[in-house]
Amino acid sequence: MTDLEFFAERDDLNVTWQHLIRESEKALASAYAPYSSFRVATSLLMEDNTVVTGSNQENAAYPSGMCAERVALFTAASLHPGKKIVKLLIIAMREDRPGTLLPATPCGGCRQVMAEMEIRQQSPIQILMLWKPGQWVKVSSALSLLPFSFQPDNLK
Ligand code: THU
Repeated sequence: MTDLEFFAERDDLNVTWQHLIRESEKALASAYAPYSSFRVATSLLMEDNTVVTGSNQENAAYPSGMCAERVALFTAASLHPGKKIVKLLIIAMREDRPGTLLPATPCGGCRQVMAEMEIRQQSPIQILMLWKPGQWVKVSSALSLLPFSFQPDNLK
């Protein structure tokens, strides 16, 4: 079952999540979104308190672009192999509305990558995102966001 927790205010979140929101707000500046004007940033908190951020990187050949979540996850796996991810935060902002955080829930491809990251590290990743304007939701694991997912064992 998906374990959900809702927060109506940013101030209701604990200091760790608030820190990740601030780090993600900074990371929005590195998004490259000339086609959608929709900037997304992800911050990952690792088990030793290292924070890794990522932002969406678009491309004129549209499918060649990459979501913020996967940029952050692959960066973490490359720079910090073997280190577990404990929290993941996603925020978004339209370029014509700076300062307003918008809902962004991960696409199917990013859920697939998050799910495998959990399987790899054998521990859950908490995910916090805005699901409606001003409304935060926290889920207790990435696998809960992708029921019946294709997993490494399927290849055996
Ligand atoms: N995008 C993300 O980076 N993460 C999400 O969770 C949703 C969508 C990006 C992809 C594309 O650059 C832009 O947002 C519009 O879809």
